[in-house]
Amino acid sequence: PTTREYNFTVSEIELSPDGVFRPVVAINGRFPGPLIRANMGDRLLIHVQNNLPNGTAFHWHGLYQNGTNWMDGTSGITQCPIPPGASFTYNFTVENQFGTYWYHTHYSTTNGDGPVGPLIIHSPDELKMQKYYDVDQVVLIQDWYHDYSQALLPDYLASGSENSEPVPDNGVIQGTNYFNCSAVDSDSGYVCEQNSTRAVFTVQHGKRYRYRLINTGAFATFEFSIDNHPLFVIEADGTATEPLPVHRLDIAVAQRYSIVVNANQSAGSNYWMRAQMNTFCFGGPNPVLDPNVRALITYANNTDEPTNSTDWKDAMDVQCVGLNSSLLTPFFESEAPPATTMYAIAANFQIGDYALDRAYINGTSWVMADVPTLNQAVAGLQAANTSFTSSGVSSAFSANQYIIDIPDYAVVDLLITNYDEGAHPFHLHGHTFWVLASSPDQYFDWSTYGGLNKTLSNVMRRDTLMIDAYGWALLRFKADNPGLWALHCHISWHMEAGLLMQFQARNDIMRTWTIPSDVLELCLA
Ligand code: C2O
Repeated sequence: PTTREYNFTVSEIELSPDGVFRPVVAINGRFPGPLIRANMGDRLLIHVQNNLPNGTAFHWHGLYQNGTNWMDGTSGITQCPIPPGASFTYNFTVENQFGTYWYHTHYSTTNGDGPVGPLIIHSPDELKMQKYYDVDQVVLIQDWYHDYSQALLPDYLASGSENSEPVPDNGVIQGTNYFNCSAVDSDSGYVCEQNSTRAVFTVQHGKRYRYRLINTGAFATFEFSIDNHPLFVIEADGTATEPLPVHRLDIAVAQRYSIVVNANQSAGSNYWMRAQMNTFCFGGPNPVLDPNVRALITYANNTDEPTNSTDWKDAMDVQCVGLNSSLLTPFFESEAPPATTMYAIAANFQIGDYALDRAYINGTSWVMADVPTLNQAVAGLQAANTSFTSSGVSSAFSANQYIIDIPDYAVVDLLITNYDEGAHPFHLHGHTFWVLASSPDQYFDWSTYGGLNKTLSNVMRRDTLMIDAYGWALLRFKADNPGLWALHCHISWHMEAGLLMQFQARNDIMRTWTIPSDVLELCLA
């Protein structure tokens, strides 16, 4: 194992990823941020210098952080934000996992403003998958707003806005896309340069490309496709899969898919790569699939507009339903062990004439705590008198922190029911969960459950799952990772509206912890 060091200087600068200038939260002056790449077992040291006017924290999405919960980067949960002008070093090893991950700020909605990038972990086991591809490349896809997220937030959270999320102005691939400046209102104050370009991917006839797709956005699900080329899915959220052929793939925020593309078209030709924003997921009345988010695939190493490029004829997912995980088979066998306990949670927005537009999980709406819940928990456990209610909820946390304490070592069945009219991409920190079952139907049929003892072999595991509108998902995970772990909707507007809860695991180990002093010092500012 090696130690790999990265320096992140985070600052707000004017950039025009799609031709329209706006303040972007950039890492080392760039958007998107640098590629972090390591081998399994390596130590990562990421030195963050915060030159923003507000606090920040970096989360390594999908990494387990086993034994280093305080490096998980979740503001108000595992750390206080890094104050403006201060620096902090994330220091952790990457164990027992490899594949496609990413990083982003975990402080309010700032992740939508640019501080995102890919994080790829290699391992000897990955060699077994290399029979499927010759070239390995990252493809970042995300929605893009022409306004700073904090400027859009007050309207979104205002009472009576009926949960209508800000609609992205554009989408970008590798941080760039074309935008037609005539669509910008001339007295809006936006400066648009009519010289924006699309990303270009050069391919060589006869080679097979592994594209690691990462949706680094704030809100939109994309329908990804490449004209005239079928896709073979070989990984989802770090779990390698047997190749699944598809024409289109919907990818929700924070999800990752590796796809293999066989460059078998004629040398000299060009094709469109499409990432169509599924605006049906925005809850709008008329589903429109935005055709403008594209990149160029060129066999000829030029940027000529394709002449013989045809979009797939089969219908897109206009219902905004996620890819059914049961279609995916793990490449490396994984058995879901029997569960020892079950929790059911309900997610919904509560909107009314007199209510604020907040989201709730089991009746609790999350608000970032001033003292991270991890710090509160460790102190409480060491004071030895923290009591837990019979449902496992610590009595010591404030009402905005819904925390389930999973007693001792447990394997948890978790039923998430979505009572909202929109789909939610739910992410669990520090774990991958088995997707036992999911459905867009409103009610979970308990007669199909099979109980805690039911075991399932080779079920798909992932860390971010779309839970369909009025639908549900039954997940299972091993609660063997000590610490405080967020479970939340990854749509940044929804997380900020409170759609977040936490699990506390292995409090027996947590009570022996000493949180490193540099982490604790972040709270002294
Ligand atoms: Cu991608 Cu709470 O994280």
